[in-house]
Amino acid sequence: MSQAADTSTRSTLITGCSSGIGHAAAHALTRRGWRVFATARAEADVKRLEEEGLEALVLDLDSSASIEAAVETIKERTGGRLTALFNNGAYGQPGAVEDLSREALRAQLETNLLGTHELTTRVLPMMRAQGHGRIVQNSSVLGFAALPYRGAYVCSKFALEGLTDTLRMELKGSGVHVSLIEPGPITSRFRENAYRAFQAHIDTAHSAHATTYQKVEARLASSDGKAPFTLEPEAVVDKLIHALESRRPRPRYAVTVPTHLFAVLKRILSSRGMDRVLLRSTKDERE
Ligand SMILES: NC(=O)c1ccc[n+]([C@@H]2O[C@H](COP(=O)([O-])OP(=O)(O)OC[C@H]3O[C@@H](n4cnc5c(N)ncnc54)[C@H](OP(=O)(O)O)[C@@H]3O)[C@@H](O)[C@H]2O)c1
Repeated sequence: MSQAADTSTRSTLITGCSSGIGHAAAHALTRRGWRVFATARAEADVKRLEEEGLEALVLDLDSSASIEAAVETIKERTGGRLTALFNNGAYGQPGAVEDLSREALRAQLETNLLGTHELTTRVLPMMRAQGHGRIVQNSSVLGFAALPYRGAYVCSKFALEGLTDTLRMELKGSGVHVSLIEPGPITSRFRENAYRAFQAHIDTAHSAHATTYQKVEARLASSDGKAPFTLEPEAVVDKLIHALESRRPRPRYAVTVPTHLFAVLKRILSSRGMDRVLLRSTKDERE
């Protein structure tokens, strides 16, 4: 693959391409003629992505140095032009809110919010200078609806939505468009990665939620048993393509039935009513 400075091709940087949505997006956009900088935090994944024919780079959202190095490499390779950024990399830290240590919550926000934000601020000058750009944030249905035992993740995605809504207004007239994609359940490695975070940070034995955690753990550890209405990553990629290629990208894209449903319910129900619906939708996970 050519690594010469290329200012004609549409180009995009994608985070979290080792698996799931990022991986599917990197391949789909490459097939559509985009120059894709597919990034992953582990060297071994970068190597694998290169073997798959992708132009891959290391980018760890937890490291400012890694973010800076990746952006500098892309600047060199593109002559300082980048059409789009897909902020996709993230993970879920499960656990009851009262069991989240400062460290666990900080780690969750470092990756999902602060790293994503830092990368965005490093890429934006290129987009402002060229007078156009697309930034797409992979949020979640949990970016506007809270579910029990997912507080850290919910917090990170609500915060990402707030930052994004603000940024969109601040970029009005700049030629840079910002969109949020809000997927519901999607087939990926999300659950197994969340299980790892759960084991690393949640002291189940000493928790008031110890009994519920047995259920939580069984759900996270199981490789089968998809949540209802689960879609494949391509459902997200379809919205991503619209956000990147349409003349009028939307501020928000809902993916999956639960996202559409909860968005409508949130508009019409009281907070208590919404709590009832959200608790009922996760009842099997607790009892
Ligand atoms: N799957 C769902 O049901 C669902 C629903 C709504 C929203 N989402 C969102 O979709 C996005 C992609 O998730 P996915 O479902 O495709 O899950 P996934 O298969 O677990 O992929 C997540 C990606 O993020 C990467 N990542 C984690 N920490 C990182 C860090 N510090 N720096 C850079 N990359 C990091 C992972 O890399 P490693 O392999 O190195 O860990 C992986 O490549 C996330 O933003 C997630 O919140 C997913």
